[in-house]
Amino acid sequence: MHDEPNILPRPGFHLTPERNWMNDPNGLVFHRGRWHAFFQYNPEGSDWGNMSWGHATSVDLQHWDELPVALRFTAEEQVYSGSAVAAGPDGPLTAYYTSVSADGRQAQSRATSDDDGLTWQRDPANPIIDRGSHAFRDPKIIRYEDADGFRWIMLTVEAVERQVLVYSSADLRAWEHVSTFGPVGPTGVVWECPDLIPLAVDGRPEETRWVLLLSTNPVGDAQDPDGSSMSYLVGDFDGTAFTPERSELRRLDHGRDFYAAVGFDSAPGGEAVILGWMGNWRYAADLPASPWRGAMSLPRRLSLTTVDGEPRLVQEPPAFVTERLAAIDPTTVALSAVAVDLALDGFGVVELGWDPSVTGELRLRLTADTDGEVAIVHDPAAATLSVTRSGGAMDTVHPDFASTSIVPLAGDRPGRLLLSLDGPLLELFVDGGLATVSDLVLLGSGRPRLTLASERASPVSVTVAVLHRASVLDRASVVDQAHAFA
Ligand code: FRU
Repeated sequence: MHDEPNILPRPGFHLTPERNWMNDPNGLVFHRGRWHAFFQYNPEGSDWGNMSWGHATSVDLQHWDELPVALRFTAEEQVYSGSAVAAGPDGPLTAYYTSVSADGRQAQSRATSDDDGLTWQRDPANPIIDRGSHAFRDPKIIRYEDADGFRWIMLTVEAVERQVLVYSSADLRAWEHVSTFGPVGPTGVVWECPDLIPLAVDGRPEETRWVLLLSTNPVGDAQDPDGSSMSYLVGDFDGTAFTPERSELRRLDHGRDFYAAVGFDSAPGGEAVILGWMGNWRYAADLPASPWRGAMSLPRRLSLTTVDGEPRLVQEPPAFVTERLAAIDPTTVALSAVAVDLALDGFGVVELGWDPSVTGELRLRLTADTDGEVAIVHDPAAATLSVTRSGGAMDTVHPDFASTSIVPLAGDRPGRLLLSLDGPLLELFVDGGLATVSDLVLLGSGRPRLTLASERASPVSVTVAVLHRASVLDRASVVDQAHAFA
């Protein structure tokens, strides 16, 4: 029996729940050799509701084991997003999450775990921080140390006010409100899921900046049909207040499906690793995924690089992807206006390298066994990369699902693109991670084809790695050079 062609195939190297609804990552923490991801989860159904924290762990960020629900909703409390920290290498885990009570009040509550996150004890003093607000949520705990010593910092949002509230604590129990940031940037959105991450500029620790991550979701009348997205601001944090270098929010991911990303506490080597939900509130409830509903992105390693005199966020795929690619010799494909088809496995990554001054425009197209397709066009003259998902299979999800994302590129640089396709999850790391595009795509469950063509005849280097199934298809297989690019 064939699956319904529009039902999304379950990803192989991304975190998805076995069944039911998932949204934001919560409580991301590396603890005793394992990456823990908790997540917004409905234990009882495939729609948003009964909000609880699901739980999964991984040793390599590629294979995830799902564990029992960690924090379950009750009649009195919905368990919304939050974070966890490891107080010491073998100490207990402390989590903060937003308790939503029956009257809709949102307040921050605490829970601790002595068994590596398997079971949690809610604090009898909950809620710990309550402002009587109905939009006060998403506590993210980070660490801060200076000459005055070490303290824990909690970032939360007043979502409707578009503000980040900063709290400070010595013991993860008593919190003092020390500053408020915002509102800045576009109106007509709520702010959600803040994080604040210190990153060295160009690898120089003495040039550290703090990067504020924000997820914004349209609300009210005349909402932006593009829906949810993430932005960032680069600035300074002195343990009390965040001061941005410029007040314009910069887009963190140019696709439609990257939201609520926050960082892991205690990542090995002090690396900054974030994980996001590959979804968009505009149509998340309409996705034909079953019995699982919701996926996380690839974990991303963050750094800052100076571009045109300004620190810009760079997002790189995790080591399991880059190491796998590094072990495979690239194939050189001779491109021209006559298209070349690569047969992909559908659960892997493709790295492409080209010289835009030779190729001119480079066009890629992804198709499989639905009429849905993705067109990726690199236009060196316009200095843009555009990503368009279209076709009936996409349109049936929601009227706003078909989309074009335009990525501005940093001038005339070598063409570099890492394309990850894991079932319906498409993620592009452009120009070494200076831009990313994350999109859900409905290509069906058959083997996808990647069609390549360039304006002028030129060589393009291609490396293909399968990440899901054991397979010999580790190299690009050129199956058909004979048709013109449509
Ligand atoms: C973000 C969000 C959070 C909230 C959670 C509820 O996607 O709206 O602000 O805590 O999802 O599931």
